[in-house]
Amino acid sequence: MNTKRIIPLILASTAIVALLFGCGDSADIEGEDYGNLLASPAGLVIVEEEHPTGWMRAQCFACHEIRNIHTENRTHLPDEEIDLPGVRAIVRTQGEASCVLCHGDNGVPQ
Ligand code: HEC
Ligand code: HEC
Repeated sequence: MNTKRIIPLILASTAIVALLFGCGDSADIEGEDYGNLLASPAGLVIVEEEHPTGWMRAQCFACHEIRNIHTENRTHLPDEEIDLPGVRAIVRTQGEASCVLCHGDNGVPQ
């Protein structure tokens, strides 16, 4: 292969690499936002209609990253009542087993 062919090839693969890692850089640091969770009929407990993508999946962390959740109180209730630092502490110590305490079983048989 001569250099005239190699250079565009290198440029193309650099662009692909930039694309892949670029996505990582712009990862959501604002946290996930589904609005006021308490506004839905079952409140914090998730039901199939509001969780079509994650329904019946036990591995919450496959899709929800710890650092992106419970970052902002969007419930319109006082911070003392929602106590997100407290929520984060429970999640930190009990991991995926804690989710069911507040969000229900997500359709997963317990
Ligand atoms: C396959 C990916 C996936 C898995 C696994 C998953 N989720 Fe989700 N979750 C989502 C997506 C995407 C949304 C946004 C709503 C939708 O499209 O389902 C969401 C939304 C939510 C919400 C906000 C719902 C609302 O009221 O708007 C909560 C709470 C939640 N997930 C908790 C959990 C818990 C707890 C688990 C594990 C038991 C879990 N998720 C597993 C992808 C997932
Ligand atoms: C002690 C109660 C509690 C536990 C345990 C808990 N959550 Fe939450 N979660 C909340 C509250 C309260 C909110 C609403 C925060 C807000 O105003 O957006 C919330 C919101 C969420 C949201 C919506 C995005 C957001 O940040 O508001 C997701 C997704 C979520 N929780 C996933 C999980 C997963 C996954 C677990 C288990 C690892 C978990 N939660 C454990 C109380 C809890």
